[in-house]
Amino acid sequence: MTFRGKPVLVWSLNNYLGLANDPEIRKTDTEAAERWGMAYPMGARMMSGQTKYHEQLEQELADFVQKEDTFLLNYGYQGCMSAIEALVSRHDVIVYDSECHACMVDGVRLHQGKRFVFQHNDMESFEKMLKRAKKVTEETGGGILVLTEGVFGMAGDQGKIKEIVSFKREYGFRLLVDDAHGFGSIGKDGRGTGDFQGVQKDIDVYFGTFAKSMATIGAFVASEEHVIEFLRYNMRSQTFAKSLPMPVVIGALKRLEMIRTKPELQTRLWEIALALQNGLKEAGFDIGNTNSVVTPVFLKGSLGEATNVTLDLRETYGLFCSIVVYPVVPKDVIMLRLIPTVCHTMEDVRYTIESFSKMREKLKSGTYRAEKIANWA
Ligand SMILES: Cc1ncc(COP(=O)(O)O)c(C=O)c1O
Repeated sequence: MTFRGKPVLVWSLNNYLGLANDPEIRKTDTEAAERWGMAYPMGARMMSGQTKYHEQLEQELADFVQKEDTFLLNYGYQGCMSAIEALVSRHDVIVYDSECHACMVDGVRLHQGKRFVFQHNDMESFEKMLKRAKKVTEETGGGILVLTEGVFGMAGDQGKIKEIVSFKREYGFRLLVDDAHGFGSIGKDGRGTGDFQGVQKDIDVYFGTFAKSMATIGAFVASEEHVIEFLRYNMRSQTFAKSLPMPVVIGALKRLEMIRTKPELQTRLWEIALALQNGLKEAGFDIGNTNSVVTPVFLKGSLGEATNVTLDLRETYGLFCSIVVYPVVPKDVIMLRLIPTVCHTMEDVRYTIESFSKMREKLKSGTYRAEKIANWA
């Protein structure tokens, strides 16, 4: 990436499979834009916004994620939020992981019934909340909807979907999984986290976005046919919105074809990710509990030091990294979040680990205390 005129090595793009700059993808996008422009189809799906390409994409996505049907969404965030809102009534109860993405939290906020949050990936806490939820639904006659993520995008740990579904028989809930980071990056040919954990069939509502591995915009929700049919007419933010433009739909078809037919993209992604993760561990870095390609690096330091770490990485070492600070992590923790992609090289990995080691020495010796290098900004 070029940042203010200088080339930098970037570790913060969710372009997992490198499709953003792939020549075949660029060609498809360009040709579709030339043929259709951005205007068509005009109107909502239900009115005049339905095309055979939209239907084809929905069918191909459904086949890929092993569900009966899918519904295309213009945006992942509002789509996921809106799907949650549509799926529950005030008699129902939502049980959700405390680290669920903001779009799910906003879906919960729209819910008019009870909700219980369980500690992140903690199955004891989960069962405790299920018990509470069951008590409520026994009175209201409603159902329970459980929300979690496939891959938690900040720290890279997978949601414990396999453990969660093992409670299904006793508590009789439905499960919605936001697999924004897992779709395309994990599981057979990138079929997602449910596939990786061998429990895709137990996920009742599977959500994926095009914003990461697909390197475009848009999203989808997948489920049984009757659930999708219900969502088509009841998901307010999508039902009453203009449908996805043709170049986006045709571009997504091409991307899906590439993901399906080029397993070497997955292989390469994981080679880079594992080299990065193993190299960081060997160099003594704390990379938390990641079991996906998302790679966090935890350091100790203040907010001011975090700012200077980011600046030093960028200005001195030419590394552009996303940094996460309080309140997402505790006050004295700095989390650098690296996203490996197919575009990175082993030399990039080596250089980054070497630069990180130098940065860590400076952090330890107090070089980054805010006042010292504040003028870099
Ligand atoms: C877990 C998760 N869910 C949903 C979204 C929203 O997706 P989109 O960017 O397609 O709106 C994101 C992306 O930022 C995400 O990380």
